[in-house]
Amino acid sequence: MIGTKRFPIVALIAVFAAVVVFSRFSSIEAADKKKQDPAIERTRKTVRMLDDIYKTTVVLITEHYVNDDDDLPAGSAAIALFDAVKKKGWHEVRLLDATGDPYDDKNTARDAFDREAIKQLKAGETFYDQIEEKDGKRFLRAATPIPVVMKKCVMCHDNYANVKKGEPIGLLSYTIPIE
Ligand code: HEC
Repeated sequence: MIGTKRFPIVALIAVFAAVVVFSRFSSIEAADKKKQDPAIERTRKTVRMLDDIYKTTVVLITEHYVNDDDDLPAGSAAIALFDAVKKKGWHEVRLLDATGDPYDDKNTARDAFDREAIKQLKAGETFYDQIEEKDGKRFLRAATPIPVVMKKCVMCHDNYANVKKGEPIGLLSYTIPIE
């Protein structure tokens, strides 16, 4: 008799203990996830490195080789480079307009990520990203702003003269595998 009376109490204590243990484990796991997935952090760092190299190259080419408006623009050279990089399967990067008045219409936002990135970058973010899954693989979509870095930019893009100081006129939009 005593045994059956005690049973509900023992069962309750066991359930309570299980809940406490489980919630502790799950909060540890959540905290670990928050601590960052190292693969995502590595990919972000790769994007920052590529971004610095690409932008520095465009500025150097414009500074040293582009002197009038029939010279090959550094932007066109960059697009040719990005096509080659994509064909070789490294990653995808697109040079896009953020003003609504691109030199070439193909350089406009293509999807929801690009459109949201333009909004965020214009609001002052310097890096915007999202994780996407495609065919079971993870990709980092990331966007960085392009300001009017030199007076020479306005030589071909006369609309840049009307842009608020510091507001980005374009962006680089990356799709890069998370490995
Ligand atoms: C010699 C003329 C010329 C100069 C100087 C120039 N651009 Fe461009 N830019 C172009 C052309 C042409 C395209 C279109 C290239 C294409 O789609 O192949 C373009 C494309 C772009 C794009 C993609 C969106 C669009 O408008 O099509 C951005 C962003 C851009 N340029 C930014 C810049 C910046 C920033 C500078 C200054 C560092 C600059 N450009 C200097 C001619 C120029």
